[in-house]
Amino acid sequence: MSLLIHFRCSATETDGSMVQLTLPRNSTVKSGKVWNSPQSSGRWKEFRIYRWSPDDGENPRIDIYWLDQDQCGPMVLDGLIKIKNEIDQTLTFRRSCREGICGSCSMNIDGTNTLACLKAIDDVKGAIKIYPLPHMQVIKDLVPDMTHFYAQHRSIEPWLKTETPTPPTEWKQSRDDREKLDGLYECILCACCSASCPSYWWNSDRYLGPAILLQAYRWINDSRDEATGERLDNIEDPFRLYRCHTILNCTQACPKGLNPAKAIAELKKLMVERRV
Ligand code: SF4
Ligand code: SF4
Ligand code: FES
Repeated sequence: MSLLIHFRCSATETDGSMVQLTLPRNSTVKSGKVWNSPQSSGRWKEFRIYRWSPDDGENPRIDIYWLDQDQCGPMVLDGLIKIKNEIDQTLTFRRSCREGICGSCSMNIDGTNTLACLKAIDDVKGAIKIYPLPHMQVIKDLVPDMTHFYAQHRSIEPWLKTETPTPPTEWKQSRDDREKLDGLYECILCACCSASCPSYWWNSDRYLGPAILLQAYRWINDSRDEATGERLDNIEDPFRLYRCHTILNCTQACPKGLNPAKAIAELKKLMVERRV
């Protein structure tokens, strides 16, 4: 299967100068099809949606759809579902829970990585511009390829690791220790943070990125886990951990209100503490 990389056409060097990148073939985004028009009555909203299919050999394009908000649910995901059901069945996107739990409807809406099911249509002024998560390979339309992201998650071994014999009923945890997981366990692996992180854009082959590092810290911070040293060894690397430069895009982007940058700072602190 051929894949398209969603590139930006220029980037700022560390000295502030701009560099030009050569865009790959089929990467120019063109105006696409206008599927319908607003009517005189109703509250009409324009949706401008990125479209690309690996099957037709065409350039990516922006298609335009109009929806009457009086006939549609309040969230951007409601709009996408209505478009797919009633206007254009070829529009492709992921979704499942429609309430901010599964993490599958992450995309770039109005210039921000977020969850389509948590983003209100009324929160966007003018046309709603919708793209796939930036700097990730695109499988089709709004669907990014998460294979590498999930492989990185697997690499931090996101499960309880213990050496003492398993207790007959359950691994117990004090209330205080359980509270140490607040702000971590809620992560739904939507990748909005990682796809907002400039360090991850340029080094995602080796840098784990904010989502995966927050997950790594979640297991290190779990009082029941007995593999802390091994886990720290696994991420102590100039690229896997130390490409975070505390830019904080990740924390601003998280639709669950989590703070991956803080988790990364805690990991770096643990690295220092175990050396002294
Ligand atoms: S704080 Fe670190 S992980 Fe978050 S956006 Fe900045 S470089 Fe990326
Ligand atoms: S930290 Fe937030 S933005 Fe990042 S993957 Fe988890 S829920 Fe999504
Ligand atoms: S559909 Fe599950 S988070 Fe949006």
